[in-house]
Amino acid sequence: MRMETYVRPQPLYPYEAWSLSEETYDEANNQRSESLFAIGNGYIGMRGNFEEGFYGMLGNSVTGNYLNGFYDSEPIVYPEGAYGYPERNHAMLNVTNAQRVELRIEGQLFHLNSGVVHDYRRELDMKKGMLTREIEWEAPGGQRARIRIRRFAALQHKHLAAIHYEVTALNFSGAISLTSALDGKIASQNNNGDPRLGAAKAEQSLLLEDSGRDGELSWMRQRTRHSGFVLLTAMSHDLQTNQPSQTSAWSENEYAASEFTVSLRQGESAALTKYVTYHTSKDYAEGELLVRAEEVQRMARQSGFEVLAQEQLSFLEQFWKTADVEIAGDPALQQGIRFNAFQLLQSVGRDGATNIGAKGLTGEGYEGHYFWDTEMYMLPFFTYTRPDIARALLHFRYATLDKARERARVMSQKGALFPWRTIDGEENSSYYPAGTAQAHINADIAYGIKQYVSATGDSDFLLNEGAEILFETSRFWLDLGHFNPARDGKFCIDGVTGPDEYTAIVNNNAYTNLMVQDQLRYAVQVAGWLAESHPAEDQRLRAAISLTDEEIALWGRAAENMFVPYDAELGIYAQDDTFLTKAKWDFQNTPADKYPLLLHFHPLVIYRHQVLKQADLVLALFLLGERFTMEEKIRNYRYYEPLTTHDSSLSPCIHSIVSAEIGELEEAYAYFDRTVRMDLDDINRNAKDGLHTAAMAGSWMSIVYGFAGMRLVDGMLEFAPALPGQWDSYRFRIMNQGRLLEVLVDAEGTEYGLLEGESLQIRHKGEELTLEAGKTVRR
Ligand code: BGC
Repeated sequence: MRMETYVRPQPLYPYEAWSLSEETYDEANNQRSESLFAIGNGYIGMRGNFEEGFYGMLGNSVTGNYLNGFYDSEPIVYPEGAYGYPERNHAMLNVTNAQRVELRIEGQLFHLNSGVVHDYRRELDMKKGMLTREIEWEAPGGQRARIRIRRFAALQHKHLAAIHYEVTALNFSGAISLTSALDGKIASQNNNGDPRLGAAKAEQSLLLEDSGRDGELSWMRQRTRHSGFVLLTAMSHDLQTNQPSQTSAWSENEYAASEFTVSLRQGESAALTKYVTYHTSKDYAEGELLVRAEEVQRMARQSGFEVLAQEQLSFLEQFWKTADVEIAGDPALQQGIRFNAFQLLQSVGRDGATNIGAKGLTGEGYEGHYFWDTEMYMLPFFTYTRPDIARALLHFRYATLDKARERARVMSQKGALFPWRTIDGEENSSYYPAGTAQAHINADIAYGIKQYVSATGDSDFLLNEGAEILFETSRFWLDLGHFNPARDGKFCIDGVTGPDEYTAIVNNNAYTNLMVQDQLRYAVQVAGWLAESHPAEDQRLRAAISLTDEEIALWGRAAENMFVPYDAELGIYAQDDTFLTKAKWDFQNTPADKYPLLLHFHPLVIYRHQVLKQADLVLALFLLGERFTMEEKIRNYRYYEPLTTHDSSLSPCIHSIVSAEIGELEEAYAYFDRTVRMDLDDINRNAKDGLHTAAMAGSWMSIVYGFAGMRLVDGMLEFAPALPGQWDSYRFRIMNQGRLLEVLVDAEGTEYGLLEGESLQIRHKGEELTLEAGKTVRR
């Protein structure tokens, strides 16, 4: 929608290549900064809250500590319920806050709203994976101190985070104290009527069972009110000082503290390291939690903060080796693309039992739920940069396949239907028109499997997990759709919602039907491959799920006879059976402050019009590109583009990719700008509720699929690179079948280099190239 008018906003934070920083404390926008300065390791997520707490304006802070996949389950109250509505909601829990460290200088509590702040800098370093805050503070009594606080969530140790708190006495000699705490009383965030936030909880979800101290360790044991999971939070400390010190510890209800008092002389420093661990009964037996915590805590103290920090750096060196994207000539975009990759890594579950939420581990928006965002947006990034993580994400679907089977049964269907939003496999969407009705998630998962297997060559996954998912979801489609006599016997799928949530419950959403067609063809192909090359496994799987030859043949028939709505007059695909007959939305008379429409108009008002929240058919143009001619792509794109509000953050990146493909580089660039800096520029004005992980991954896709035109066709990578006029060059790396490929696009052309692995065939604008390790080829 009117992208040519897009102007990048003034920077909220300085443009820096490898970090995000601020030089002043911006109280009014504190909540946004808390999301942006979040740290995480895929399991633990800590918002960028201050160790001392927040003393500013009410409502400007959400203390947030999250564990991926750890939730409480609340009954959903429907004033008017119906059969098959999900009965319970799982919401990712805000858990015990272990960030707390309070500093007192001769009794005066340090915080940013007291005394004088002479110097302030906060920095999230993306090479080190470290959040640092440096402050020069003058207490009300005139004592000046330098404070340097570093913290990280250990990427190589799932259960561990650490804080290093250093204080230097600048102009005084006197007592300082550091009080480190576990605070288990959690205030729930208010949702202010925004459906994207989820229901606010009326009561405490974490109930204290026990707490204790054992040598170095303080711990607290809590149980979730409804789901009955146990959380064990623990801390231990290491004080570094040359001066005599005193230590005391106490606890009261959900608060456990250790206090360290040191007499500092002018010019001297003291430092406290705090090790924090979280273990839950989702991973281990209840009785083991304390022992596990002790083990990790001991390991951490033995290593020490600096050694752990070095491990963090090495982990990230490896990550950046495959995941880094360089954009020369635009520091804002350079920062954006790295920030996004970094935050994706911080949020993604790597253990196969957890996944990646729509807001990652940075806030409570969408309640920590996983959506189709995973397969359609995040999975490509991981498939080509960290295939092991991609596999773990797909394993999550396999691990929840039984629940998807159960859901299909509740929906009176055969096979399996994956949940629209979920934490542990159950459907959590209480608004079915934009929830359960989005059955396309089944085809999205199938597409993700196909891409992953084709890009990595991981046929083990297909054999052991992927095929079963594919077959059960294909079975669902055959049962959901029907060969429709009113449509010449074509296969129709009625009563579904496509990706565009501004149009709901329609017949024959073109995106869905096209994706299902693609899935069914693939399922037939995989069934053939299995029977041929792995007959024993084939027998076993077929017996286990009672799959017959007739069923597989029917998948093929449905695919070949798939109905896809098409308007011959306009020469475009109709979004669904009735979309093109509706009135167009009156964009002219919709002022800017009425967006996003979902906050200002009843769903029915929106559903009645030709207006899109996000790419729908345009997404199919990209995903199933080989199905459409260039003319078709242009015509369809031109029709749907002006009707798209991009009220969903999932949308601009797809428009960037497709406009790049049809040669509209300026438009592609504007959409890219908007997606890559979605959170850094707070484009949708809700970064405070958590970061937009799909848009972040979408920015990587815009580079690789968009500007570089990468596609995987019959297992071979093809490129059609273009360089936006604003840039000098860009460079990225791709993992493909165990090889590491580097692509550099500059004013002279494109250079391909094979950095690791045996020779690789690729295509550059139709021309086949053979790449040999250690050599580069330029075109
Ligand atoms: C989008 C969905 C998406 C969800 C979570 C919604 O606004 O319309 O497509 O899955 O956000 O990111």
